[in-house]
Amino acid sequence: MSEEIKKGLLGIVVDETTVSHVVPELSALTYRGYKVQDLCDKCEFEEVAYLVLHGELPSKKQLNKFIREERSNRKLSKTIIKNIQQMPKNAHPMDVVRTCVSLMSLEDKDTKDNSQKSNMQKALRIFAQTPTAVAAYFRTRKGKKIISPSKKLSFSENFFKMMFNKIPDKEIVRAFDISLILYAEHSFNVSTFTARTITSSLSDLHGAITGAIASLKGPLHGGANEAVMHMMKEIGKPEKAKSWIENALAKKKVIMGFGHRVYRTGDSRVPTMKHYMFKVAKLLNKNKYPKIYEILEREMLSKKNIHPNVDFPCGPTYYMMGIDIDFYTPIFVMSRITGWSAHIMEQHASNKLIRPLSKYKGEQVREVMLLNQR
Ligand code: ACO
Repeated sequence: MSEEIKKGLLGIVVDETTVSHVVPELSALTYRGYKVQDLCDKCEFEEVAYLVLHGELPSKKQLNKFIREERSNRKLSKTIIKNIQQMPKNAHPMDVVRTCVSLMSLEDKDTKDNSQKSNMQKALRIFAQTPTAVAAYFRTRKGKKIISPSKKLSFSENFFKMMFNKIPDKEIVRAFDISLILYAEHSFNVSTFTARTITSSLSDLHGAITGAIASLKGPLHGGANEAVMHMMKEIGKPEKAKSWIENALAKKKVIMGFGHRVYRTGDSRVPTMKHYMFKVAKLLNKNKYPKIYEILEREMLSKKNIHPNVDFPCGPTYYMMGIDIDFYTPIFVMSRITGWSAHIMEQHASNKLIRPLSKYKGEQVREVMLLNQR
């Protein structure tokens, strides 16, 4: 048997999927065959969530039912609320949201049921409740009263209401909705592959999503949207951006929000998110970070020929919206639950245990010495 090592599974095709596809020649990412740019132009986030989960865009009737079910599942149990209130104030919100999804598994009557029907219902409940958990911790940490979800508001409006007790201008809500559409799905990335690997042992959806959240937290993956903003804050002002990046590159630093395993000539989600970042900046009259964005993007392209990924415009967009930096990746979770769930169901429908091999380079077989002889 060949022992050629493909570290990081670089270039390895491990399975088939119908959920999403990167089409380099169209510079497009498609969800279920639809270009994500078109979805951003023509759909609300809820329609895209339905598409990712169910495989087709909903009819009006299907969408109304989906929205009704999502809205009526938003409330968290008293036990989970109590747990959130008792969590350390300095915890990372990604650890909080991971723990909350794990707690949801203890309460869900269908946790062990891996049927497609049950998985779809569980996915919907996690999708509906996660924003409530994120916002509850956001407010608890600030010593503020938790705001219950509303059944009258859209997914994004409700999130703003639960976070800030007010809903911003509709253009701001739309920019947030767009970020959720762009974050919903991206084929076999690290967290999705984690979810599929967990699923492949016939474990359950809550466990797979909990593992996927842990995987998304890392700064080489979803955690990059937070790292981008820390970097921009460290740079501080546009006049310092050029020298900062020159210095960082001279020290061979990895620049957060740049590069991608799949896209080598630019992340197809970036132009859309960049457009909305500038819209938000204009509406709120906040130009500092978009200016830093432009300089870093220009310098990275000219010096390294490396393009930004979607986390690069998302970081400053959320910052301008007034969201604490460590909540950016939990927001990514709120959307990616749809993609993870679709992949978990796809894995269950055609499962094969995921179990790669390794090339051994440790000690050769040797004798165990008794404790008093070592
Ligand atoms: N800054 C500086 N150099 C970079 C960067 C970067 N952000 N990204 C890639 N490179 C360089 C590497 O140093 C490497 O150079 P070398 O060939 O001279 O050693 C070359 O480009 C290839 O990069 P790899 O790290 O080998 O590419 P890989 O596919 O393994 O990694 C990754 C992709 C992890 C995304 C990488 O680009 C990175 O670390 N980016 C920063 C973190 C980030 O933004 N992650 C978010 C990804 S998008 C998402 O998950 C939603």
